[in-house]
Order: sequence, then C-alpha cells, then structure tokens
Amino acid sequence: MKILIHDTAEAAEKDTARRLAQAVNKKPDSVLGLATGGTMTRVYEELVALYNQKRVSFSEATTFNLDEYIGLPAEHPCSYHTYMREALFKHIDIPEAATHLPDGMASHPDQAAADYEAAIHAAGGIDLQLLGIGHNGHIGFNEPSSSLQSRTRVKTLTEDTRRANQRYFASFDETPIYAITMGIATIMDARECLLLATGAGKADAVAAMIEGPMSANCPASALQMHQTATILLDSEAASRLANRAYYEYVHPKGDDSVQL
Ligand code: GLP
Repeated sequence: MKILIHDTAEAAEKDTARRLAQAVNKKPDSVLGLATGGTMTRVYEELVALYNQKRVSFSEATTFNLDEYIGLPAEHPCSYHTYMREALFKHIDIPEAATHLPDGMASHPDQAAADYEAAIHAAGGIDLQLLGIGHNGHIGFNEPSSSLQSRTRVKTLTEDTRRANQRYFASFDETPIYAITMGIATIMDARECLLLATGAGKADAVAAMIEGPMSANCPASALQMHQTATILLDSEAASRLANRAYYEYVHPKGDDSVQL
C-alpha cells in the first residue's frame, strides 16, 4: 500500500481528483470504477473544475459505479444514479451510454448483479477504482463478513450503515435495506485502486484497513493484498495509525506530486 497523508481534507481530495485525471490523460479510454458518498463530493467538484480548464476529457472513458440501492428508481433524488449525474456526469463530456451503475429496480436483482459483473469483464476490466470507506471498514457496500472472494451481488446493509446514510433520506425507515454492490474480488481485480478517507470519524476504520489483520471483519483490509493500492488520507483520518511516522517519512506531506 502507498499511504499518502495530507495536512487537510481539501489537499487529499484535490490529489485524488488529479490522480484520476492523470490516469485518464495517460489512457483516454480508461475504464474507471467510481464511488459515491460525502467524501467524493469535492473530488468530483475538482474533476469538473479540471475538465472546465480543459486539463482532462472523458469523451473516451467508461465508468462503472460500485453500487446502487435496491428499490430506488434512477430518478429518485437519493439514488446513486442521481448522485453521479448531479455531481459529475452532467458537467463533463462522457457519453451517457458509457456510464454504468447497477440497476436497483431490476425485477431479478441477482441476475442484474451477475450481468453487471459480466459487463465489467466485457469492457476489459477496471483500470482505476476509486473507493471511500465506511465507518465499519466497508468498501462499496461490502459490509463486515463479506467474503473476500465476493463478486457483484445483493447485500443487506448494516443498521450502522443505514444510520450513516440516513442523512440523505427523510427518515431511517425510508433508508434502503438492500443494495447491489461490486464484490471485494471485483474491486481487487481493478488494475489500480485509489481509496480516499477524511475526518476523525474514519480513523479507526483506516487503522484497521492498513494495520489490522486482513479480515472479512474489515472488508477494506483486503487491499493489503492489492499490488497497486494508494490510500489518500487527511491528518485526522490518519490519527490512529501506529506507523504514521514511517508513512510520512516515505512520502512527506503526502507528497508524490501529480503532473497534469
Ligand atoms: C456508502 C458507499 C461507500 C462509501 C461510504 C462512505 O455506504 N456505499 O462507497 O465509501 O458510504 O461514505 P461517506 O463518504 O459519506 O462517509
């Protein structure tokens, strides 16, 4: 794992966006794995800014999002389809047909999940996968106890995750219980992973991911087995790392400067 610790969340978010843009500049027909959540909002803002400055174009890129809630139509204000459209897709030059999210309204969700996995393969696999992390160490919606060999499938969300995501819904009862998510093995197949975590609330999950045992109890710890995983943190998210001084010695101030 390459662990880059920035002073501020803003610096970590900007670095994440620039790395994504750099990957697309190097390989314009990149297949990108994308993530949602509050952490990603400013990453997408920065990507849109880079696009507006003509420093990156997505016209040849393809995207696959990690997950989508079951039971929310694409047009629902809290669906991940809506999140991605509003945060990124409508602001950039990516063709709509090149953007993919699981179908949360499919009449056969298990089949929709298998079809999604097949579509990723058919596109040649994911070049760069963007990831956030849940307070309980989940990636995508792979909750603790998810098989580290899992593929895209239906998952039941923990109460903890539903409470964390309740802020987007009118009430806890309206917060979906099920989602279709890429599996951990699906994520591990990506040629490169970029995980961004910011804020003190993520510090325990980050420490378990990087320094804990590899365990289904902390799904993100599977990244310890990935050969090209970069973890971008702000100072608060890094605050529980026992070997922080070593990571900062290897990459002072998260410095691993990206040129666009
Ligand atoms: C959701 C998403 C994850 C995301 C996580 C953290 O559950 N499925 O992909 O990483 O929440 O979200 P936030 O960035 O809002 O803390």
